[in-house]
Amino acid sequence: MQKNTDLMEKIVSLCKRRGFIYQGSEIYGGLAGTWDYGPMGVELRHNIKQYFWDKFIKDREDVFGLSAAILMPARVWEASGHTESLVDPLIECKICHARIRADHADVIESHEAMHRKKKEEPAWTEPKNFNLLVSTQLGAVEGEASLAYLRGEITQGVQVNFKNIVDSMHPKLPFGIGQIGKAFRNEITPGNFLFRQREFEQMELQFYIKPTEEEGKKWFDYWKNFAMDWYLGLGFNKENLRFRQHESDELAHYAKEAWDIEYNSPFGGWKEAWGIHHRGDWDLRRHTEFSKTDMSYFDEETKERVFPYDIECSGGVDRAVLFVLLEAYTEDELGGEKRAYLKLSPKVAPIRVAVFPLLKNKPELVAKAREVYSMLKKEISNIHFDDNGNIGKRYRRQDEIGTPSCVTIDFDTLEDNTVTLRDRDTGEQERISIEDLVSKIKAQ
Ligand code: GAP
Repeated sequence: MQKNTDLMEKIVSLCKRRGFIYQGSEIYGGLAGTWDYGPMGVELRHNIKQYFWDKFIKDREDVFGLSAAILMPARVWEASGHTESLVDPLIECKICHARIRADHADVIESHEAMHRKKKEEPAWTEPKNFNLLVSTQLGAVEGEASLAYLRGEITQGVQVNFKNIVDSMHPKLPFGIGQIGKAFRNEITPGNFLFRQREFEQMELQFYIKPTEEEGKKWFDYWKNFAMDWYLGLGFNKENLRFRQHESDELAHYAKEAWDIEYNSPFGGWKEAWGIHHRGDWDLRRHTEFSKTDMSYFDEETKERVFPYDIECSGGVDRAVLFVLLEAYTEDELGGEKRAYLKLSPKVAPIRVAVFPLLKNKPELVAKAREVYSMLKKEISNIHFDDNGNIGKRYRRQDEIGTPSCVTIDFDTLEDNTVTLRDRDTGEQERISIEDLVSKIKAQ
């Protein structure tokens, strides 16, 4: 597969041309760090989120779903440590975008040493007084408005609801709370398309366990491997994903231990896709202190109140979209012609199957194609009907948006109720009976 710096440009262009992703507020010159999802992109993103929701939440008996508000009072972010760690002058590492206090010479030195060890030459942005959190004022009357933040990580919506979940659902440890939603960060250097945005989406699990080192290790390993298996399930080659442990000077203020799942990107090599963090009891203790609400958990087994440890799985939805697109982009030659297509897994492809009448101007073919389309639609929701342009163009269009299968209704269909089923990757077509279509497509 092609992996070079042009690849990103090709993906950005394909995304715009085929209705996946557009620059945010483009007609006004664009708003840096924001992107809008078009009809194809929104389906791809939805499928990725649905796959997360199924595997991390719906299929499990020990995880609850949640959807918390984006707006949260300033006090939440004081408790979580996010305001405190972000009000000083920061410099940003131009290699890994780590932000470090400009006055912490020892931390800067050890960060530079870490890069030099990897044969990278450290470089920094100028110091800036920087607050990563995006703030807003709530309330109509000036002077009485209260400061609120758009959440900088979706995690805090879960942490502040820990007691609500315990009181309403009565779970036993270990148990998890999962969520998908938007987060906002005033990134100094948004860039690399969807990779670093100011408005982005996260999918997360906070998994609460008994607070012992032993349980911490067991569940950390479990979720690390679970997250990697999940990521591979999006259709990645094993060699393009790897684990990387955070060095002690990279750890976020809340983390006892952290590993990333990284993707081998065409824009500077290995890049973070997902984080697995051992947050210890940081959040629940801090919210107890700041809100004066006891966020401890009564363990029925030991008859003790404890602050559970939290093992966090945190993935960026948009980064998953970007890496899935980069991984899927393929160029080859088919029937003597060059083509570019997206080799998307059927699990995430925006359109699972496209149905065509061979000719648009033959009413009997169009009627039969509509009949097949309606039959398939009952079983497969993301299906598309297309009679625009010639059949070759329709195949190419579907290849480019990653549709795994195309069904064509031709004159033989009218005689014997068979259709052609075309495979995106090989371009090969097989003739099969209409009644076998659903099982054949679902088995792919
Ligand atoms: N709750 C933990 C947390 O937010 P993080 O490593 O800062 O940890 C988790 O973020 C994931 O969110 C990252 O692995 C990445 O996929 C995604 N992410 C973070 N910042 C992002 C940004 N500016 N644009 C797009 N995705 C981002």
